[in-house]
Amino acid sequence: MLDFVFHNPTKIIFGKGKISKLGEEIVPYSRRILLVYGEGSIKRNGIYYQVVDILKESGIEYKELSGVKPNPRLDSVREGIKLCREHSLDMVLAVGGGSVIDCAKIIAAGFFYDGDPWDFFTRKAKIEKALPIGAVLTLAATGSEMNGNAVISNDETKAKKGVGSSHLLPKFSILDPLLTCTVPPLQTAAGVADIMSHVFEQYFSANEGAYLQDRIAESVLKTCIHYAPIALKEPENYEARANLMWASTIALNGILSTGKLTDWATHMIEHEVSALYDIAHGVGLAILIPYWMEYVLDEQTVGKFAAYAINVWGVTGNNEWEMAKEGIGKTRAFFKALGLPSRLNEVGIQREDLEIMAEKAVTDEELGRFKKLNRQDVLSILKNAF
Ligand code: NZQ
Ligand code: ZN
Repeated sequence: MLDFVFHNPTKIIFGKGKISKLGEEIVPYSRRILLVYGEGSIKRNGIYYQVVDILKESGIEYKELSGVKPNPRLDSVREGIKLCREHSLDMVLAVGGGSVIDCAKIIAAGFFYDGDPWDFFTRKAKIEKALPIGAVLTLAATGSEMNGNAVISNDETKAKKGVGSSHLLPKFSILDPLLTCTVPPLQTAAGVADIMSHVFEQYFSANEGAYLQDRIAESVLKTCIHYAPIALKEPENYEARANLMWASTIALNGILSTGKLTDWATHMIEHEVSALYDIAHGVGLAILIPYWMEYVLDEQTVGKFAAYAINVWGVTGNNEWEMAKEGIGKTRAFFKALGLPSRLNEVGIQREDLEIMAEKAVTDEELGRFKKLNRQDVLSILKNAF
């Protein structure tokens, strides 16, 4: 296990009806906030009205930024920064999934930066400061509710890039599983694929010895495997929604990456797919993961894949290669059973764009750490997944 520092100050308020705590969580930071949300799901399911009632009762003034798209756009970030400046707002509250939270994070950081917020993503500028950020999570997937990452898409350059900073950690996140009961089946499944892929990126790591982290990782995966089909069959099953919600947070709040050299190749590849085609991040991942697994399976990695097959899927046998392949096959079958697509061409991707995706994904010499991939490797994975 490698040395590490773990510091995650985000306060999690978890449970049924916990949205009622929103006012008291905001007031220590602000009485003038920007309320950020997406394309209307919170109005359709009523969460919006709960939020604004609480804000009014708590004497919190607010302006709204609505219409944040899945794969949130830089334009929304710019608009949010403008609103904060014009109205002297000093906190950003996100009510939504990862896209809304990520957008809120960069608004909060961009507020203090004179240049264009895209500079954070091109590494032209560093995030030095941010307004306080709060979140009401409505979709279990990204872990953005308890991490310092944000991913933004730039329509002008067709790029989708991420940035990480401790300044982007939300002050608090309210995790009320009831709020996720209205997430549609495909989005629920995509969220599960995203959670599982976050675990894979950290579980399949370049160093050994983080035994504890691996066992936690396997438990998060088993939680997804157990509860995803239940949430799809019974969307209002509280236990299923609660377990998936907490799995999403645990999968990417830094715990699983402690002491590890993590991979993240599949994410880098997927971001190029959803940058060009605007598909749901989790859908792209569900397609790519089994192909990445097959591609990186070799003499060096077979042991870890066999352990995955045994500990997560209960595969038995005495041939490591067979068990490893069975584990990968079960992963693919699981995503399919959740109703997720398994080929890039099923989601409208054109073969002629694969090369550009591979080129953009591998900006340095190599991608990933579990197994290093060059541009040609990435292109092969994309072609296999096509
Ligand atoms: O637009 P609204 O109306 O909010 O509807 C959303 C959207 O259409 C809908 N939805 C959310 N909660 C709902 C609901 N519909 C019904 N009932 C509810 N309770 O679901 C759709 C997808 O929402 P989105 O926020 O885009 O999904 P997700 O949470 O999967 O976020 C995806 C974004 O996060 C990035 C992805 O790349 C993508 O841009 N990621 C962020 C990460 C991070 N910050 O740590 C890490 C991830 O790996 C990922 O890259
Ligand atoms: Zn992800």
